[in-house]
Amino acid sequence: MKKLVVLSGAGMSAESGLKTFRDADGLWEGHDVMEVASIEGWQQNPALVLDFYNQRRRQLLTAQPNIGHQLLADLEQHFDVSIVTQNVDDLHERAGSQKVIHLHGQLLESKSSIDGDLIYPCHQDIELGQTCESGSQLRPNIVWFGEMVPMLEPAAKLVAQADILVIIGTSMQVYPAASLANFAPVDTPIYYIDPKPAINETVQQLTNLVVIAETASQGLASLKEKLLEI
Ligand code: APR
Repeated sequence: MKKLVVLSGAGMSAESGLKTFRDADGLWEGHDVMEVASIEGWQQNPALVLDFYNQRRRQLLTAQPNIGHQLLADLEQHFDVSIVTQNVDDLHERAGSQKVIHLHGQLLESKSSIDGDLIYPCHQDIELGQTCESGSQLRPNIVWFGEMVPMLEPAAKLVAQADILVIIGTSMQVYPAASLANFAPVDTPIYYIDPKPAINETVQQLTNLVVIAETASQGLASLKEKLLEI
């Protein structure tokens, strides 16, 4: 089976009702991203950060995968599909996708704030004073601005082996995630699905690029037809 690798961003979950980061003039649910999604933000105001992710987690538990997530899961009947997502939701998994790498962590996990290897399932609020087994404050298992991206290397290896690369719903502005597309083999076709596709330097330097200026569900429906003709 041909290897189809997907790089998905917040736009993938937009049709499930989860807000993107940069569509609302740079505010994420009314907050500056650096206030709630950076290590400095955590150090300055852990209570605000915990509350922010508690709200995101509660919202996620009421959200459902959309048609786009479902179409990606269906493509596993025809391709060896691997998904590399910047999203911290579990909608790809809930739609049935089997191989998902979360570059920026997972909202339904918590971790120790002093030992990143201590990770726990988390479907409830995390409160100040709630500690891990080593006695340190629990925090969301999210990769914040200013932190390393531990899954970058396995993600780059996947893209380097892709026969087909599909980029969906990302503004291609955040590194190192945005650089992953550059690891694709030179003759690998790259499809970029986004209703307002970024036209920054990162995107412009991609060879074999086909832009599909549609939503995730519409764009994947037309791409699936095209790919199954091959
Ligand atoms: N279908 C597909 N794409 C969509 C849709 C949709 N229905 N609605 C919006 N989009 C597109 C927007 O046009 C935009 O290009 O989704 C993209 C969302 O871009 P961002 O909000 O910047 O999200 P993303 O690229 O995933 O951000 C990357 O930044 O804040 C950090 O860690 C955070 O993972 C996040 C990273």
